[in-house]
Amino acid sequence: MESADDRVGELRRRKAQSEAGGGPQRVDGQHKKGKLTARERLDLLLDDGSFQEIDALVEHRCTDFGMEGNVIPGDGVVCGHGTINGKPVHCYAQDFTAYGGSLGEMHGLKICKILDMAIKSGTPVIGMNDSGGARIQEGVASLGSYAEIFFRNVRASGVIPQISVIMGPCAGGAVYSPAITDFIVMVDQTAHMFITGPEVIKTVTNEEVSFEDLGGAMTHGSKSGVTHFTAESDEDALDLTRELIGLLPSNNLCGVPTLNSADNPTRECNGLSSIIPDDPNKPYDVCAVIRDILDSDAFLEVQADYAANIVVGFGRLNGTTVGVIANQPKVLAGCLDIDASTKAARFVRFCDAFGIPLITLVDVPGFLPGASQEWGGIIRHGAKLLYAYSEATVPKMTVILRKAYGGAYDVMCSKHIRSDYNVAWPSAELAVMGADGAVQIIHRRRIDAAGNPEQERQRLVDEYTERFANPYQAAAMGYIDDVIEPSQTRVKLVKALSMLLDKEETRPARKHGNIPL
Ligand code: HXC
Repeated sequence: MESADDRVGELRRRKAQSEAGGGPQRVDGQHKKGKLTARERLDLLLDDGSFQEIDALVEHRCTDFGMEGNVIPGDGVVCGHGTINGKPVHCYAQDFTAYGGSLGEMHGLKICKILDMAIKSGTPVIGMNDSGGARIQEGVASLGSYAEIFFRNVRASGVIPQISVIMGPCAGGAVYSPAITDFIVMVDQTAHMFITGPEVIKTVTNEEVSFEDLGGAMTHGSKSGVTHFTAESDEDALDLTRELIGLLPSNNLCGVPTLNSADNPTRECNGLSSIIPDDPNKPYDVCAVIRDILDSDAFLEVQADYAANIVVGFGRLNGTTVGVIANQPKVLAGCLDIDASTKAARFVRFCDAFGIPLITLVDVPGFLPGASQEWGGIIRHGAKLLYAYSEATVPKMTVILRKAYGGAYDVMCSKHIRSDYNVAWPSAELAVMGADGAVQIIHRRRIDAAGNPEQERQRLVDEYTERFANPYQAAAMGYIDDVIEPSQTRVKLVKALSMLLDKEETRPARKHGNIPL
């Protein structure tokens, strides 16, 4: 008869087999590639001792291609829940040492269970991807499980934050789960994402491209905009994920996180008084403005290397998480183009879905002119940002630092699209366009007819500048709520935010709007 000790011994044997994954040789191989194992990653991601595994004993049901003799309990993915600085999260880590982390029916269903539990419990979900893709031996069963995951990612969208950390291959249709999640972190050199790999591309189009150029972290961080954060190593990626989780609410109903701030809410931003150059065409770094206004902890920039003409990211204001959107005069003079519009629109929609207040810093000379922008659909893409801001009902605060020209003035969270608190610095210029362009259009005949055309042109530019290149016409019309000294920006925003935190604003009931995709 089997004793209690035997039964526990059997349990331990099975658990140990699951923990061993694909065995020491394959673990060695993983380390040699500079990658950690699934369990090592979970250890680094979660608070010490907080991980509770589920489904460690799940096995595949495949009997084709000799798979019945190749059973690794856990089926190539480690799933469970734990905490990050005390905040509960659900997570899964694909184990490349077991079947190359490939996703078969049961592997996929384990991930589905995690997503279902995360939605039910209102906890963020973090997926660590390192996989050869659909498990070839399981055929359509693995495709079915993929689609079950995609469906759940969509259902969870806007309900719980979803983060994908890509730490190895992620190819073919497998990329669509991360693509639907809110944030993608990629590890430089070891992570690759693409729909079709270099070999297929060579066969079909004759293009030659390396794995790294095609789908590495740098490519997706700067060219495609697919990824939001690039990490130097597995460790760096997991640190970053912990930082991000700290800033985000656990779900769409729990309210935005507020910590005790070590920074003074009445601190004056004296460095901002002289940050705007005297020459209106000279750039400056808007990140310096962001860092001075926010609490002294670091600002976490999102998609820093993509569409750098707009800066988006998270920080805290008097302890409360806020999302910041700022035109960057250092890049393309801060113009809005296709990539900047879609980058900022997605960020605004994430913040709105999760109740994160928005701070918009405006210095925008307009939309970027050019045939390639028009043919690429700047009308449709620019409309996304206008739509996202108009739809957002979270607290919205806008500071016009310098230029707010043309349609871009309206789009960048103006009063007219229901921003709650709009202020401008004395350096602000709110106008249909810059003085030079405006004078050229409305006074061309007068300039041509003048005895000294250049003198007349300059006189008219000065007149236009005097009339419009300031914030006072807009202030007189109530389009901005105040003109403030730059040094007072933090103080004013802290007060406005504390008034707005419980604001209520509704929109007409509807199934969903029709954002111009
Ligand atoms: C089953 C797989 C596998 C897969 C890898 N393995 N991918 N098993 N299904 N898709 C197994 C290998 O047989 C090997 O097993 C182990 O994982 C490690 O693989 P290696 O090739 O030795 O590793 P490496 O040299 O690092 O190459 C990794 C790789 C390569 C680049 C991912 O394995 C590869 O190209 N795999 C196939 C990728 C692929 O075409 N997948 C389908 C994509 S289409 P042993 O036992 O030897 O250790 C797709 C559609 C999804 O995913 C659709 C969703 C809707």
